Amino acid sequence: MNQPLDKKKVQEFARKVFGLYTSGILAMLVEIGHKTGLFETLAQGPGTSEELAARAGLHERYVREWLAAMATGGLIEYDAATRVFSLPPEHAVCLTGTSSRNLAPSSQVVAMLAKRLPQVTECFRRGGGVPYDAYRPDFTEAMDASWRLLYDGLLIRGFLPKVAGLPERLKAGIRVADIGCGTGHAINVMAREYPQSTFVGYDLSAEAIARARAEAQGMGLTNARFEVLDATQLPEEPKFDFITSFDAIHDQRDPATTLRRIAAALAPDGVYMMVEPKASSRLEDNLGNPFAPYMYGMSVLHCMTVSLAEGGAGLGTAWGEQLARQMLHAAGFTSIEVVDAPGAAKQHLHLPQVRARGGRNQTCQLVRRAIPRYDVLVPVGGLHRRKRDAHHA
Ligand SMILES: C[S@@+](CC[C@H](N)C(=O)[O-])C[C@H]1O[C@@H](n2cnc3c(N)ncnc32)[C@H](O)[C@@H]1O
Repeated sequence: MNQPLDKKKVQEFARKVFGLYTSGILAMLVEIGHKTGLFETLAQGPGTSEELAARAGLHERYVREWLAAMATGGLIEYDAATRVFSLPPEHAVCLTGTSSRNLAPSSQVVAMLAKRLPQVTECFRRGGGVPYDAYRPDFTEAMDASWRLLYDGLLIRGFLPKVAGLPERLKAGIRVADIGCGTGHAINVMAREYPQSTFVGYDLSAEAIARARAEAQGMGLTNARFEVLDATQLPEEPKFDFITSFDAIHDQRDPATTLRRIAAALAPDGVYMMVEPKASSRLEDNLGNPFAPYMYGMSVLHCMTVSLAEGGAGLGTAWGEQLARQMLHAAGFTSIEVVDAPGAAKQHLHLPQVRARGGRNQTCQLVRRAIPRYDVLVPVGGLHRRKRDAHHA
């Protein structure tokens, strides 16, 4: 016999589903706010739609509608008596400025992925995947936007000091490589900080490498270079003292070979720092993780499919610590230790790290990058729709 539906549960769930759509729409409007400078304008001071539009040099009608969405979505505040919109300082920290806590640049990932939905959907039917090339050039741009401020704010003082003695070695002069370097900002930031060391960034994408080179030239760096290279072809010689990868293992076609190549390319006392999303390899462990849907979703929409497109491993974004440990062991790293990056709780990233000692005294540090510690899936707008929802349900 069919159980009667619990109407309250239906209503709640309908509200949740529609809230997801609302969040998706708001995410795209955050991108507009970031790209038009509207958040920065709001951060400079409150104003009416006319005042804000004039200050930002934008069309008032569009600005007014955008402000209404932001206000009803809870991103900004509105005073009906004065018709003035404002950005609370706590929100400004998350949406403006050059600190690594500014999440606004990452908003463009949503629309970038949405453009590939028809191709990804087709893969559910025919298998295979959507190749990396089909995501460029806007993927490169979105990655740069997502990572740039993190490198600026956290790389030198957050990541690197977690390897005991590494800053001193970098100061003295060592050889460093970054695998899957994208537009190369990590390499360029390190190269500027440590002029005695030499740096090379490798990536599959010629377009990303061209941007990396242009930035290095613009920064006047003579100790940073970039090469288009498939990481599975990383040569054993000359050796590197320090190798990094930032979110660049799990989406590879053949990550096992890449890890073996990295181990082989490390000098006897070399260090590998692998930054990857923080997850368990077991789905059941991730059920309570509010960022897990983001990871699995990113995986379907990009990370897994680009690997499967080449007949690859398709590890997925949430490949997780257990599998990472297994694969690092298989690549030749023998013991792995997890440590947290300093100041992580104060930052919007949580960075537990895994350190592996290899048979040849190599060290591997697996930095487990978490998605920003904000509940990105909270259905912001949908929460206010009580009466109409009840009616529809
Ligand atoms: C998710 S992005 C990582 C972000 C990047 N570290 C940054 O700072 O922007 C992964 C990068 O790895 C690169 N990649 C994927 N497979 C690769 C391979 N087999 N060899 C070299 N690079 C690869 C991609 O082109 C992409 O730039």
